[in-house]
Amino acid sequence: MQYVRLGQTGLKVSRICLGMMTYGTPKWRPWVLDEAASRPLVKHAVDLGLNFFDTADMYSAGESEVLTGKFLKAYCRREEVVVATKVYYPVELEFKGGAATDAKPARRPNMDGLSRKRIFHAVDASLKRLGTDYIDLYQIHRLDPETPLEETMEALHDVVKAGKVRYLGASSMWAWQFSKAQQIASENGWTRFVSMQNHYNLAYREEEREMIPLCRDQGVALIPWSPLARGFLAGNRQTSDKEEGSTERAKTDNIAQGYYYRASDFSVVAELSQMAGEKGISNATLAYAWLLHKGVTAPIVGASKIHQLDQAVAALKLELSAQDISRLEAAYQPHSVLGHS
Ligand SMILES: NC(=O)c1ccc[n+]([C@@H]2O[C@H](COP(=O)([O-])OP(=O)(O)OC[C@H]3O[C@@H](n4cnc5c(N)ncnc54)[C@H](OP(=O)(O)O)[C@@H]3O)[C@@H](O)[C@H]2O)c1
Repeated sequence: MQYVRLGQTGLKVSRICLGMMTYGTPKWRPWVLDEAASRPLVKHAVDLGLNFFDTADMYSAGESEVLTGKFLKAYCRREEVVVATKVYYPVELEFKGGAATDAKPARRPNMDGLSRKRIFHAVDASLKRLGTDYIDLYQIHRLDPETPLEETMEALHDVVKAGKVRYLGASSMWAWQFSKAQQIASENGWTRFVSMQNHYNLAYREEEREMIPLCRDQGVALIPWSPLARGFLAGNRQTSDKEEGSTERAKTDNIAQGYYYRASDFSVVAELSQMAGEKGISNATLAYAWLLHKGVTAPIVGASKIHQLDQAVAALKLELSAQDISRLEAAYQPHSVLGHS
């Protein structure tokens, strides 16, 4: 395993981060694995040398944090492992996620967002579910348009100073918003974000316009979510997935079906599959290697089967030429912005 610094911090993370959204309860999303099915995957990830795990309070309404805490306690040393979680969305089984089209629960006051009250409550709830007394990387899952950014940034700084959180990170938003948040923190002597968890993969590259150059300039670590476009890049997705998808996620991940699945997205997969065949590797290994060549610190990988973890780690050894990279990028057609809501 390779370990690198998270941005300009002294914190060392494995170059593959395991996304814990896949583990929790299928009552939340049908493709999520329960405790018994998840355990061997997390154990294997630790055996491969991963020390970086990303969850969120909203995943499986807290159950993902519970399993993350339980597994990492069983398989890792607390001082070695890097536990990342997030705050913003409501923590309710009925809340399926930002872009999901399912009916959303009626909004209750103070049960989501990034107010001072909510952050103070949420951090304690996450600590309790994780079974730890500090979070290594506490990330805002989105920006809260109904809370002044100054209130959010001060509250985040306060949870760091209270010893509950070691580092702060942010997730999808506009680059100008991220820049404004960093400036507010700097002006007030508050803690700045050290990482950006954004939506970036071969089928969605809009982040190359503003956010990625900003983060590279500022030394902020890039830890993209859905590096395989929620499985779309794996090569086993088709337009008829809703009826006859080859995996539970292919069939039921309505966010993936809403984001990708355009003809030009399938052309990206066709070129990826062609090159993966020529190199004798999986689409997944090649798609992760492309990201690692684009200056990403650690892709946050989703894995529902053991071999998928091995194929992610294999990407660390794969060298790509400039010609390989331009071939992989050639079929891309710009998307409207996806994943900010
Ligand atoms: N900040 C945010 O807003 C946000 C949003 C989304 C995700 N995330 C984070 O990012 C993590 C990863 O997201 P994701 O699960 O969407 O990531 P992903 O890596 O794009 O997709 C994972 C899916 O791809 C398929 N797959 C993985 N490896 C494969 C392989 N070698 N061969 C074939 N198929 C393979 C599996 O689907 P099958 O089960 O169909 O095989 C797996 O469930 C999450 O766990 C979460 O921590 C954050």
